[in-house]
Amino acid sequence: MTTLKFRNNDEMPILGLGTFRSEPNEVYNAVLSAIKIGYRHIDCAAAYGNEKEVGNAIAEAIKQGLVTRNDLWVTSKLWNASHGKENVIPALKQTLEDLQLEYLDLYLIHWPVALKKGTEMPEKASDFIPLSEVPLTNTWKGMEAALEQGLAKHIGVSNCNENQLKEILATAVHQPEMNQVEMHPFLQQEALQSFCVKNDMLLTAYAPLGSLVDENSTLRLLENDTIKNIAKARRMSPAQVALAYTIQRGIAVIPKSINEARLLQNLETLNHTLTGEDMALLKDLDKAHRFIDGKFWEVENGPYTADSIWNA
Ligand code: A2P
Repeated sequence: MTTLKFRNNDEMPILGLGTFRSEPNEVYNAVLSAIKIGYRHIDCAAAYGNEKEVGNAIAEAIKQGLVTRNDLWVTSKLWNASHGKENVIPALKQTLEDLQLEYLDLYLIHWPVALKKGTEMPEKASDFIPLSEVPLTNTWKGMEAALEQGLAKHIGVSNCNENQLKEILATAVHQPEMNQVEMHPFLQQEALQSFCVKNDMLLTAYAPLGSLVDENSTLRLLENDTIKNIAKARRMSPAQVALAYTIQRGIAVIPKSINEARLLQNLETLNHTLTGEDMALLKDLDKAHRFIDGKFWEVENGPYTADSIWNA
């Protein structure tokens, strides 16, 4: 499978399985089926509430001899309630126990947002800790410790903008190697991509199919006419066109599915190539539209706004 290369030449499969909003009872079959048909990259997070079931599926795949641990690339993410350098390793050890793994291939700070210990999702201002009290640079020290102890082979961040990356880079001993952000043809983030490329940082696109998190949204990526027309012309599905576009920009994609046919369809994107003309038409679809808008971090008198997260 096509891969993205890290600085030490470790290779991450460019297409992985997303597990956000995969219910615990569904994710076991999704992960096992995905590995059976050839997925080798699984994207997880403590916050998804399903790492035990993902771990059971990985263990079963190894037990059945489908793969070895070494064949897999497993990413997970530090939840916001575990920011602060002393909290990173305990949180990572819990994730490793849940996933039944000795190490992660990649560990990311999930959001540039800090929450009080034990908070799942915030409801009031006192559930938060402002980043002025626990700066990202402090949490990054814990991430570096995880790397040095071999608990994670690579470390990075998620949902970070250029300024937040610069802040971490300024004091990092080990630089972040990955930024995982929302990306698809409606949100192309070209400036962020140039910054990451310049700083030798890779990108992973979450919600690469435009997510269906907002069921009321009238904007549907996979129903866009340009995407549908290219799909028809190339004998691809609209989802494959969306994924291929981001892959051909050199960005990893982690489409989530719990459905066997769609798992296969998404993986088979790798058998297709879009033309330069297709790429140019898709480039024109950018509308800087976030399906995951970050508004869930806004509470009355709270320290974060969606705008502060994306733009501060
Ligand atoms: P399902 O799990 O039932 O397949 P994203 O990764 O952008 O967040 O999108 C995930 C959403 O897209 C899920 O609701 C998932 O549903 C759906 N999905 C995954 N693959 C495809 C596909 N090939 N075509 C259409 N919808 C898909």
